[in-house]
Amino acid sequence: MKSRTAAAKVLAQVLGKGRSLGGILAPVLAQLRKDGERALAQEMCYGVLRWYPRLAALVERLLSKPLKERDADVRSLLLLGLYQVIYMRVPDHAAVTETVAAARDLGKPWAGGLVNAVLRNYLRDSAHLLEEVDQNEVAALAHPAWLLELFKNAWPHAWQAIVTANNQRPPMVLRVNARHRARDAYLRILEDAGIAACPAPHVSHGVILEQPTDVERLPGFDEGWVSVQDSAAQLAAQLLDVQPGQRVLDACAAPGGKAAHILESQAGIELTALDSDAARLKRVDGNLRRLQLQARLIEGDAAQPAAWWDGVMYDRILLDAPCSATGVIRRHPDIKILRRPDDIAALAELQGRMLQVLWPLLKPGGMFLYATCSILPQENEQQITRFLTAQTDACEKAIDASWGNPRGAGRQILPGENGMDGFYYACLQKL
Ligand SMILES: C[S@@+](CC[C@H](N)C(=O)[O-])C[C@H]1O[C@@H](n2cnc3c(N)ncnc32)[C@H](O)[C@@H]1O
Repeated sequence: MKSRTAAAKVLAQVLGKGRSLGGILAPVLAQLRKDGERALAQEMCYGVLRWYPRLAALVERLLSKPLKERDADVRSLLLLGLYQVIYMRVPDHAAVTETVAAARDLGKPWAGGLVNAVLRNYLRDSAHLLEEVDQNEVAALAHPAWLLELFKNAWPHAWQAIVTANNQRPPMVLRVNARHRARDAYLRILEDAGIAACPAPHVSHGVILEQPTDVERLPGFDEGWVSVQDSAAQLAAQLLDVQPGQRVLDACAAPGGKAAHILESQAGIELTALDSDAARLKRVDGNLRRLQLQARLIEGDAAQPAAWWDGVMYDRILLDAPCSATGVIRRHPDIKILRRPDDIAALAELQGRMLQVLWPLLKPGGMFLYATCSILPQENEQQITRFLTAQTDACEKAIDASWGNPRGAGRQILPGENGMDGFYYACLQKL
């Protein structure tokens, strides 16, 4: 199998079957033999999903009749053919020839002629076709209409910057394991290895790579010297301010990025990492093993503590709640396609329930950190304001910081601000 065939198969699963890119990409890439083929397939999968609304509008404009559902792979070839000629530096003739060849690899030689005709028709009249589809905001901005509406309502002055940031490639950010060495020492190791990098602002252990790279190329990755984690996510451990001897609950812990950072930052603590998804909890285990860190892992529902709580209160609780992930679209462009408008109210309801039932598990004087990678007020400040109004033994501990924006309650980072992912944090203190 070659890169375009692999990418078409992956994209057909995401677009046709609603599968998440993160869940299906790795095993397909593993079937490609060369590094270059894997990198190309990955770039095409992410790129097509990033620009899907615009590419889909072009495909619709260029096809005389829609393809059948069972030919989602052929439609994916058309999308990735257009992606190559619009957004990549692949020469036009190579993009057309290789994409036509991929139709044969998919076992659909009849589609070769169609792919050839659609791509050549586009190339003959590209400026005019792009101008035509870009009349529509959904295509031009490559976001679904309902999401644009939510962004405009929530961020009337910033929504365009949000959309632009969502369509950009994110930086690769590392977290240096403080148990092994300081950030400056690791930066010198990277320099010796010929990997250009600089310190990430606002976080103590963050390093921004000039170019993304395979983790296998990172010095000491297998030995646990370093992990991949955006700067915005690295703020959680800083804000939680865990002290020696404390009992900490990470209520939605998988894959374990923040739990590991908390453990790296403070020795001699007792951390419980809870998650309802057994497969994702295995990833916490794998990550902690690589980093040589220990925690108590529990598979359980954060909204039903009676089933797993041992009755001893926690000094710190982190609720990194399941959310719309609207702050991390640049990293997970399939969110634009897989998320549905109804999801937002359902997620807000679940987050509210989790807050309510986890609060009694916190010791008086303890701190509760609520976090989401959402930029929607329904999941963030509205949630926390409602909670603070109802909960008489809770007060907000204002976050005094130079990153993000203060909101009615908590602090919001918008995507791309300070180079970070979109994230929301609120610190709640128990009286
Ligand atoms: C935003 S992710 C957490 C990321 C994690 N804190 C990290 O830094 O790596 C949200 C997690 O919540 C988990 N989750 C969803 N519903 C849950 C529930 N009812 N109880 C516990 N965990 C849940 C999901 O499986 C997912 O792993």
